[in-house]
Amino acid sequence: MAFQNYQAMNANSSLVLILFLAVQYTASTNIFHFVIEGTSFERLCRSKKILTVNGRFPGPTIYALAGETLSLDVENRGKDNVTMFWRVGRHVKSDQVEWLVEAGATVRKNITISDDDEGTLWWHAMNIWQRATVHGAFIVHPEPDDHVDIPIILGEWWRKDVKEVFVDYIDSGRDIKSDAFTINGQPGDLYPCSKNGTFRIVVDIGKKYLLRVVNTAIRDDLYFGIARHNLTVIARDGRPITKQFITDYVELTSQHSMDCIFEANQQPDYYYYAVAVKNKSEAYDPNKITTAIIEYQGSYIPSLVPLLPKLPRNYDKSSSRDYLYVIMTFVILGSFVVWYRQTNRAHRSATVTPM
Ligand SMILES: *[C@@H]1O[C@H](CO)[C@@H](O)[C@H](O)[C@H]1NC(C)=O
Ligand SMILES: *[C@@H]1O[C@H](CO)[C@@H](O)[C@H](O)[C@H]1NC(C)=O
Ligand SMILES: *[C@@H]1O[C@H](CO)[C@@H](O)[C@H](O)[C@H]1NC(C)=O
Ligand SMILES: *[C@@H]1O[C@H](CO)[C@@H](O)[C@H](O)[C@H]1NC(C)=O
Ligand SMILES: *[C@@H]1O[C@H](CO)[C@@H](O)[C@H](O)[C@H]1NC(C)=O
Repeated sequence: MAFQNYQAMNANSSLVLILFLAVQYTASTNIFHFVIEGTSFERLCRSKKILTVNGRFPGPTIYALAGETLSLDVENRGKDNVTMFWRVGRHVKSDQVEWLVEAGATVRKNITISDDDEGTLWWHAMNIWQRATVHGAFIVHPEPDDHVDIPIILGEWWRKDVKEVFVDYIDSGRDIKSDAFTINGQPGDLYPCSKNGTFRIVVDIGKKYLLRVVNTAIRDDLYFGIARHNLTVIARDGRPITKQFITDYVELTSQHSMDCIFEANQQPDYYYYAVAVKNKSEAYDPNKITTAIIEYQGSYIPSLVPLLPKLPRNYDKSSSRDYLYVIMTFVILGSFVVWYRQTNRAHRSATVTPM
């Protein structure tokens, strides 16, 4: 199936995206065409060209079955060489996993997926500035059970040209901090000029949804969660985890993936799925939370502002208050210990050997 035909996919039609993914899976042959090229995108009130695959950010999702042989061709219409890296399990031959696609050239290869691979993997360019926008999910064995499958690519957006940002970083050590994190290419409602594009997942009450989340951020670990909904974590990096667990938010390290199921079991409304960076030194900034919307189907009047999930400290005020309580507890305990040691010095020195 030729992904090129889908360049027109509009960012604000996520329903279309879900349908599109379903179609993509059922119609899937095992041939994939990737075209690496510059494409203009408008984000954060500005337009700029980024390097993409098939004109999309994030790039297309590859669906495959365990044991299947895929035929992939990658055409590089850009000015720079690109080394593609397919993170597809442990047993795939190294020459299949990493390929140099020279500027102007096309490389065609087969990739054979191992029988024991399963879950959410991903592909990306090796070079760090290219990887920032050239990446996508690689999902093995996507046969849906009782849940709907939704790839969620967490990425980053820079207002400046990404290549310049990284060249500057190498030359002068200047910051590579991005201007926004993105959910399937979108910063979401709380960023300027972004509301129209906010990624939406339309859900039916009572159904289960499998979020296949990949953190493609250059170096940041990210928290994510859905307001009023628990997540059941079932797999990491394309492998089922032995002990599934239920949580209200998840921490996902940079360059890793995680599969989480949530059930649409709350009162019909709009709820935010939010992403925040894990960085203890960064101040809480309510305007810098990346959001997508979980939208229940049905006829009702949604809350004017969807509820945000509670994520850890740098974002959530109440848990930072908890943190303060912890510090205060330590301070009080510490004073007590000092007082105790002073008042009991004679006794302690007789019974306790100092370390
Ligand atoms: C691309 O790679 C080839 C082979 O390694 C090299 O000869 C060529 O100079 C590279 N081109 C660019 C633009 O880096
Ligand atoms: C890929 O596999 C197909 C079908 O098995 C085969 O015809 C083709 O020659 C292979 N291509 C490469 C580049 O190995
Ligand atoms: C959002 O969509 C509305 C209606 O289609 C349009 O008028 C408006 O210009 C759009 N805003 C942005 C920032 O794209
Ligand atoms: C989330 O999980 C916790 C602990 O398992 C449970 O107490 C809570 O009721 C759950 N919340 C929802 C909305 O399912
Ligand atoms: C955390 O945020 C601070 C302040 O914005 C920044 O200087 C620092 O580089 C960040 N740390 C990481 C690991 O991103």
